[in-house]
Amino acid sequence: MNVNDNAGYLIPSGAWTTIASKLAPTSFHGSWARRFIRQSAHRIANLAKMPAFSASAGTVVSKEPDRLFAQPLAQVPDFAFNEDVVRVFPDMIKRSVPGYPTIVENLGVLAAQFAQPNSVLYDLGSSLGAVTQALRRHVRSDGCRVIAVDNSAAMVERCREYLNGQDSMFQELLPVEVIEGDILALEFQPTSVVALNFTLQFIAPEQRLALLTRIRQALLPGGALILSEKLRFNDSEEHALLTDLHVAFKRANGYSELEIAQKRSAIENVMKPDSLEEHRERLLAAGFSKVVPWFQCLNFASLIALP
Ligand SMILES: C[S@@+](CC[C@H](N)C(=O)[O-])C[C@H]1O[C@@H](n2cnc3c(N)ncnc32)[C@H](O)[C@@H]1O
Repeated sequence: MNVNDNAGYLIPSGAWTTIASKLAPTSFHGSWARRFIRQSAHRIANLAKMPAFSASAGTVVSKEPDRLFAQPLAQVPDFAFNEDVVRVFPDMIKRSVPGYPTIVENLGVLAAQFAQPNSVLYDLGSSLGAVTQALRRHVRSDGCRVIAVDNSAAMVERCREYLNGQDSMFQELLPVEVIEGDILALEFQPTSVVALNFTLQFIAPEQRLALLTRIRQALLPGGALILSEKLRFNDSEEHALLTDLHVAFKRANGYSELEIAQKRSAIENVMKPDSLEEHRERLLAAGFSKVVPWFQCLNFASLIALP
């Protein structure tokens, strides 16, 4: 258990057989029970063909621990969303981003309020599809489909596997298309929900306004952009305090001083956080009418931007 676990939901994949047999009615040995157990066994067999993962709070993810920066590196390379990161990403993001599980799950809940029938929902910078899985758990509007986009081939490949895992476990999920591509080059279809969950901070600062403007132009009335980011703070004391508290959060989640220092030096050239004020001004400049922060934990926040 770590500081970001929001419940003891981890279910070892081997436990599914037991759960399936327990859920099946014991006093009723008719065809429904046999079909239930047969379907469950089929799903478990499908899961066994995939990389090790478990369903945490209903999310299909790998469990490999993040030790990427545990050994001293002669030179720390710039952070990249490559195969090494993909293997440990669920553990890395949960132990590094305060509030991440809460943001992801509630992103699905919020999306369900803004999703318009027969529209597209975008998960931009989808990584392993955690947000896409949450959208599929919560959005019930008729005819919606999800388009998940990421420019990391390794992320996209694993994301597709996890979404297949989600399809194996749950029925009547929204259809999903996972695209390997640059969100800056995407031709947006009319959309009711766009999720940018910790992705904008990896886009070159001078390209952020143009991207948000194109998202705003594609948004349908009643829709929303949900934007989560690491924040920096204009007040230097506030910035220092929340930075220190974030380091304490990572320590509490088992990261050593070496891991924290090496990860910081790997990521500082590739991730450029903005302040809340910069986000608000840019979103308004992009044509959004209202910006509403709905979550903040330390120096990480999520905003709803309305068209
Ligand atoms: C911090 S991760 C996002 C986490 C993910 N949204 C989640 O909630 O689990 C940032 C992702 O954005 C992707 N990314 C960065 N720049 C991109 C771009 N220009 N086009 C598409 N994806 C991009 C990276 O490959 C990475 O997977």
